[in-house]
Amino acid sequence: TSNQMWGGRFAAGPDAIMEAINASIGFDKRMAKQDITGSRAHAAMLAAQGIIDPKDAEAIREGLLTVLSEIEGGSFEYSTALEDIHMNVEARLREIVGPTAGRLHTARSRNDQVATDFKLWVRDQFDAFEGGLLALMKALLGQAEAGADWVMPGFTHLQTAQPVTWGHHMMAYVEMFARDLSRVRDARKRMNECPLGSAALAGTGFDIDRHMTAAELGFDRPTANSLDAVSDRDFGLEFLSAASICAMHLSRMAEELVIWSSAQFRFVTLSDRFSTGSSIMPQKKNPDAAELIRAKIGRIFGANVALMMVMKGLPLAYSKDMQEDKEQVFDAADNLMLALAAMEGMVKDMSANRPQLEAAAASGFSTATDLADWLVRELNLPFRDAHHVTGALVAKAEAKGCDLPELTLEDMTSVHDGITEAVYGVLGVHNSVASRLSYGGTAPTRVREQVARWKEVLA
Ligand code: ARG
Repeated sequence: TSNQMWGGRFAAGPDAIMEAINASIGFDKRMAKQDITGSRAHAAMLAAQGIIDPKDAEAIREGLLTVLSEIEGGSFEYSTALEDIHMNVEARLREIVGPTAGRLHTARSRNDQVATDFKLWVRDQFDAFEGGLLALMKALLGQAEAGADWVMPGFTHLQTAQPVTWGHHMMAYVEMFARDLSRVRDARKRMNECPLGSAALAGTGFDIDRHMTAAELGFDRPTANSLDAVSDRDFGLEFLSAASICAMHLSRMAEELVIWSSAQFRFVTLSDRFSTGSSIMPQKKNPDAAELIRAKIGRIFGANVALMMVMKGLPLAYSKDMQEDKEQVFDAADNLMLALAAMEGMVKDMSANRPQLEAAAASGFSTATDLADWLVRELNLPFRDAHHVTGALVAKAEAKGCDLPELTLEDMTSVHDGITEAVYGVLGVHNSVASRLSYGGTAPTRVREQVARWKEVLA
């Protein structure tokens, strides 16, 4: 038998393979609530405009609530033959309220319907994304505030570079996640236009009120061009690209946690709540959550690329290709939210190993730059010469198997006779970080300012 929604011109039903490739109900049932909300707004508007009888609209709106409660209660029976959530809901509505249900689809197409449903769904995810970022930023702020003056090694090339503060390192991530947050807010603002009423592609001859449905569904305004509205998936792509960049940040942080929690580094201890054990090695405490967060970028960025590929080359307006948008965004959203929550949990629970951080900060000739800067300041050497002198002192220390502060004054003056006892004042890691007072620098004073500023913004 032919399809009850569009089968008028069909003599035969679809092949089983056709049904399998065509159906999206397996995944778009996640938009049931959005579909029903959108339909209820549409029915109310049709009645307000005198396009359908208010009594019919009321029956439809009530019936849709019954459908929703069946879906939420788990008693709803989804049918693959009915292709997608839109037709599943409408078919059930017809069973409940009778042929009146058929009036709901006046001045509407599944094309504007699916664009609206999906936008509503993605909009919720932008909000969840924002919530996850804010929670993570607060957790990082907590760490930064506690350890504004704890000293740790700063790296470039993962080689010891200069001492930095724990708080500074934590605040670096706050800055990254703050940019993610601004991308999210920016995209959410841009996407908040309602496609409903664009109908199949050309708009409709019925005297609908698109401003009414847009307002009812929390959109800022209706979309301005019906052709664009039914074939735009930029909002999904913006979600995925913001998610990809955020996942990249999460992945970098996760990598640091993996390194830092190793027996060789011992910079942090992850809590038992966010670690796992080994079935053979009894001593193991593995940073699995961090590793999985590190990996999530793969599927999230994959989704971004996949949807780009789906959309590229599609002529206006709707093509069925666009049904392939949802699974990508669903999967990316699920995994992003999980990654954000897991990272927040890990950051909140982890404890920095302060003595180990400080010892590591002092190793690897980390204050060599401070020494060179001292030669510039006190002996008026050109920086390049100071760099060379310091390099020779590092070589000397390396040969003696000691760190820079352990070189004797004699060792020092043998390389440059102007060096005095006062040089030892700049070789300690605390002095080093305290001296870096330039705007945005690692000095505890500056870190506390960063923390205070963000606390105010996030309050
Ligand atoms: N399930 C479809 C989708 O996800 C709904 C829109 C179908 N529209 C159509 N003209 N076949 O894109």
